[in-house]
Amino acid sequence: MTDSKPPFSGPVLGIESSCDETGIAVYQAGRGLLAHALYSQIALHAEYGGVVPELASRDHVRKLLPLLRQTLAEANLKVSDLAAVAYTAGPGLIGALLVGASVARALAWALEVPAIGVHHMEGHLLAPLLEEPAPGTQPLAPPFVALLVSGGHSLLVGVDKIGSYRILGDTLDDAAGEAFDKTAKLMGLPYPGGPALAKLAENGNPFAFKFARPMTDRPGLDLSFSGLKTQVLMAWRGSNQSNATRADVARGFEEAIVETLTIKCRRALTATGYKRLVVSGGVGANKRLRAQLAEAGDKEGFQTYFPRLAFCTDNGAMIALAGSIRLAAGQTSGPEIQVRPRWNLESLPEVA
Ligand code: KG4
Ligand code: ZN
Repeated sequence: MTDSKPPFSGPVLGIESSCDETGIAVYQAGRGLLAHALYSQIALHAEYGGVVPELASRDHVRKLLPLLRQTLAEANLKVSDLAAVAYTAGPGLIGALLVGASVARALAWALEVPAIGVHHMEGHLLAPLLEEPAPGTQPLAPPFVALLVSGGHSLLVGVDKIGSYRILGDTLDDAAGEAFDKTAKLMGLPYPGGPALAKLAENGNPFAFKFARPMTDRPGLDLSFSGLKTQVLMAWRGSNQSNATRADVARGFEEAIVETLTIKCRRALTATGYKRLVVSGGVGANKRLRAQLAEAGDKEGFQTYFPRLAFCTDNGAMIALAGSIRLAAGQTSGPEIQVRPRWNLESLPEVA
């Protein structure tokens, strides 16, 4: 697409629809986030105990345009004010991704503005850039290590430059969020279990159950959580299954995940020599994880960067931001509606 005037002096629309959240936002370089809105399908999927892909797609169809109108109104913008459109092109559920990509592509075509397909995990990774740095803290800039922990991924990423990502560690089985969700489910908590389990853990005794810290007793940065889930299942089945025990098990499980992730983050920082750690993705909203990593950072001399809680889980703001950065570097995607349910973060082009 050719466009002679600089395309990014204006606002960029971000559309997220990779899973069970419809997120819309407008971000403008130099001005920041102008507006954002989110619709969560949690209630829709709760009765099935997990995301039903076809229902997710249909709900994105229902909610996307009303949310878009709402966001533009909040930003006090007309649709014709948009300078570009960024949308999640993957990884995620194919039908859900196609809804966002189709709307984004149609809008960009009608408005004759550029559009770019964004990698969902790059969105999570850059989300802390939506925040003002904490007082006395350097603004986030590469190089840094990113811990990306969501429902679908658990990645440790070496970020040498924005756009240039090295996977340092990955999960061999369940993602951290998935482990939270499955463990919560086996103790009868509603979907999605992560936040419910974390809340329950607040009242649990941290010493009642001691679970393994998987893969911390050998070198390497990979993760594995399915064994931990089985350990919890056995402990729960063998217990009196009272409410107090449920809270104790939840606490023991949360402690195990948080300590495991903390050990791996410290290891990744030592291996790379980097002094900055980004923590993002849905599990990045976990308060104990945030506190423990911030404390480790204070002790060991690395700086931690987290998005606000609402931008740890899926949202449109991170997509608008990541898209803006790539658009500003002159990158766009072709006009075809193309999504990638699977997409390797390392294959992304560098941002010049
Ligand atoms: O990033 P996200 O919104 O969606 C994906 O891209 O997967 O992450 C959702 C995941 C779910 O597994 C959810 O249970 C988990 O993040 N999660 C949490 C918390 N809030 C959300 N896990 C632990 N503690 C939380 N406070
Ligand atoms: Zn996500």
